[in-house]
Amino acid sequence: MIGPLVHAVNVTKSFHHNQVLKGIDLDVDEGRVVCLLGPSGSGKTTFLRCINQLETIDGGRIWVDGDLMGYADRDGKLYRLPDKQIAAQRREIGMVFQRFNLFPHMTAIENVAEAPVQVKGESKKAARQRALELLERVGLADRCAAYPAQLSGGQQQRVAIARALAMQPKLMLFDEPTSALDPELVGEVLSVMRELASEGMTMIVVTHEMSFAREVADTVVFMDGGVVVEAGAPADVIGNPQHQRTKTFLSRLRSEHEHP
Ligand SMILES: Nc1ncnc2c1ncn2[C@@H]1O[C@H](COP(=O)(O)OP(=O)(O)OP(=O)(O)O)[C@@H](O)[C@H]1O
Ligand SMILES: [Mg+2]
Repeated sequence: MIGPLVHAVNVTKSFHHNQVLKGIDLDVDEGRVVCLLGPSGSGKTTFLRCINQLETIDGGRIWVDGDLMGYADRDGKLYRLPDKQIAAQRREIGMVFQRFNLFPHMTAIENVAEAPVQVKGESKKAARQRALELLERVGLADRCAAYPAQLSGGQQQRVAIARALAMQPKLMLFDEPTSALDPELVGEVLSVMRELASEGMTMIVVTHEMSFAREVADTVVFMDGGVVVEAGAPADVIGNPQHQRTKTFLSRLRSEHEHP
């Protein structure tokens, strides 16, 4: 592929009169990890949801793997694609949310095998085999018959990652995947994500886990008030921020960690 896997240009988005994204640019090369940081309300979730078209955009363009997401461009004017085509685009992108969103009436393996069967028309047998391999990969082969309610939050989140991977996405989006977890369960989810990154998955991760961002991210992007304030290598943005807003955010984060 020529150019970045994710190429977002001047993305704008308002809810009623509230402009939440004020022209976001972001490029993510294939196999790279971007961590998105920023205060509550800065537009991080909205931006992720725009990438996979769970939200419409008002202006700008987002390409994933060369595909213009959600729209057809005719002479510079955007026309919304039919839902079916948007769903097909979305299928190429895995998303893991803060809350686990597993189907409660299905076991772990059924959760992981569901979409490949229902959406891609894979055989049940093949889908279960792959689901088992994926559960093994996230360290849960022995829990494949458990229902979500019988799993810890960390285990549920690992099932959610396996479920997203079952669709063989080109890109994974994570929206604060560990922020609803008890502290002792955060590490197991981050280590699955770290491994995924080392295997070459392209990932955009909204997180406040600074040690993860420092270690795993190729690029850290700090957003505030719907704009990218600062972006660069983790050692620069986290280690030596240039902007006052970034400094303030990071020092607040540090003091919250020290005095929870
Ligand atoms: N569906 C919606 N309708 C109206 N306003 C919305 C909607 N979704 C988000 N917003 C507003 O958009 C702004 C950005 O929200 P967003 O959820 O993207 O922020 P965030 O950076 O993810 O924050 P947090 O760290 O708290 O998750 C907020 O002011 C929010 O209230
Ligand atoms: Mg959010």
